[in-house]
Amino acid sequence: MPIPVILDCDPGTDDALAIFLALASPELSVLAITVAGGNVGLEHTLANALALTALAESTVPVHAGADRPLLGRFTSEPRVHGETGLGGVVLSRGGYATPGVAADVIRQILRESAEPVTLIGIGPATNLALALATEPALTAKVAQIVLMSGAWAEGNMTPAAEFNAISDPEALAILLACGRKVVFATLELTAQALVTPAVIATWQGLGNGQCLQAACDIQATVPPSRRLVGRGAPLHDPCAVAWLIRPELFTARSCSVRMDLGPGPGRGRTLIDRWDRTGDPHNAVVLETLDATGFFDLLGERLAVLP
Ligand code: RIB
Ligand code: CA
Repeated sequence: MPIPVILDCDPGTDDALAIFLALASPELSVLAITVAGGNVGLEHTLANALALTALAESTVPVHAGADRPLLGRFTSEPRVHGETGLGGVVLSRGGYATPGVAADVIRQILRESAEPVTLIGIGPATNLALALATEPALTAKVAQIVLMSGAWAEGNMTPAAEFNAISDPEALAILLACGRKVVFATLELTAQALVTPAVIATWQGLGNGQCLQAACDIQATVPPSRRLVGRGAPLHDPCAVAWLIRPELFTARSCSVRMDLGPGPGRGRTLIDRWDRTGDPHNAVVLETLDATGFFDLLGERLAVLP
């Protein structure tokens, strides 16, 4: 039976490929796509999500959500994703957002679902946190929370913090305290999913569908990571989706994770205690290794079946 999921995102170049992967995978039943501001402003992330679902000829409802974090000011990352969020690639305009604010829709789906629902978060965690903080009893209807977020070593937004985590650290802290283990695809995991021109060329040869072409065009705009000495562009968000589809491509470790919510240079840091040094209760699972070849093969195979 397919896993019922809600995909919360901030498209975003890597979000785009994650959305395609989720929509193309029979292992998942995407009940809704909810959107936050993140890589770029909500006006662009929402338009991008609508354009991507339209390109995939998907009827999955897309709902607008938070355009800023719970506390503090909104910050975006156009240096990686371009001013409009898809690296400058222009897609045909999508449809209209389905009425209903993301957090309300997430709660409604959890309330009405006959079975627990998996929450996938690949942007700032604001929408997910708002849903669970305002109706905590619904956590009982959450099967899993799977995030691309955090890092146990250096960040990519500050030396201490990864972009999604620092974009709304209080929201991430709420998820970590909700009573459901949070599965993390951290920067160390996604650094193993390095896209190179050769990977894109392989995908390009798998078909000529519009989604495959768009994915290749979008990914080709992403510069190699300076942080990873130019060896390639880490493909972050699809890793979180792929774990649900092919967990055998990953190894994972149960551990405790705490957030640095202070105002200083460590703000937004995910304090990932992989070696149980704190003795804190395990509230997370951290994905540690990835079979990159298997991951890229899966992604290419699924991109090729889309329209
Ligand atoms: O740090 C990478 C994460 O931040 C990805 O989700 C990317 O899309 C941005 O949202
Ligand atoms: Ca994202």
